[in-house]
Amino acid sequence: MAHEDMSSRGPSFHADQVDSGQIDMLVALLDAQAALPGIKRMRRWAHDALAVGVGERALDIGSGTGSEAMTFAERVGADGDAVGIDPNPAMVALARRRAAAAGSAARFAEGSVYRLPFPDGYFDAIRCERVYQHLDDPVAATAEIARVLRPGGRVLLIDTDWHTAITHPGDPSVVAAMSASLLVSTPNPRSGRRLRGLLVAANFVIDDMGSEAVIWEPATALPLFGEMSRRAVEAGAITAEQHDRFRADLDAGFAAGDYHLSVTMFAVSAHKR
Ligand SMILES: C[S@@+](CC[C@H](N)C(=O)[O-])C[C@H]1O[C@@H](n2cnc3c(N)ncnc32)[C@H](O)[C@@H]1O
Repeated sequence: MAHEDMSSRGPSFHADQVDSGQIDMLVALLDAQAALPGIKRMRRWAHDALAVGVGERALDIGSGTGSEAMTFAERVGADGDAVGIDPNPAMVALARRRAAAAGSAARFAEGSVYRLPFPDGYFDAIRCERVYQHLDDPVAATAEIARVLRPGGRVLLIDTDWHTAITHPGDPSVVAAMSASLLVSTPNPRSGRRLRGLLVAANFVIDDMGSEAVIWEPATALPLFGEMSRRAVEAGAITAEQHDRFRADLDAGFAAGDYHLSVTMFAVSAHKR
């Protein structure tokens, strides 16, 4: 898939567009999201559904800041193996630093979901959160997850479906144009609704599904709105005037407490036959 050049595209989580210079911005975004109550609830639910136990081998794919691999490490104990993998070397370095500072036994490696550096059937459980939206080939990714899981092993996929996003206030047509400008470089923006079908097609047995409409606070959403509107104006999708009107409406909504910013995340848990 062709991608725009980095300067017009802005920060990206796509594995082909890794730019270690953007790491601070990406980590700040992940940390802010991790603090949202909706994300915390979804993660708690996901860990309960996956039910990783003492002595198991567990993998977090696209492990980002490393927090969920560290949760695995607490669950598996000294006899287990908790691993995080991410294609961004700067993200892996940060996860290692955070794990060392926390005294966690989680280990981290560079790598992609398309070629997991593990033997067939190595893991008891795998989670993968908000990664599929950045994948050009989710079918190949799911097949590779199946390869490294043992028979009976569990998988838990979580992803956003960006077409469920709600932004209020703001002219809906302007919001839609801005959102389309941002999502043009996201290969799989409706990922959340596709997770179940991908797992079924890869011959997994579906065990449960979960969802959470994650409520964003203005401080978390504003950097994203800044990026969305910058791209939309640059692409000619909205005028500078429409942008200014949108921001004025939004700021008035924030000041009055009359706002709603949300997007739904979906999760599917399944096991390998
Ligand atoms: C939105 S972040 C989510 C990070 C973490 N899972 C979380 O929920 O906080 C997406 C992550 O997926 C990683 N990623 C992108 N392409 C990947 C691939 N092909 N294989 C594995 N991870 C990938 C990125 O480097 C990034 O850390």
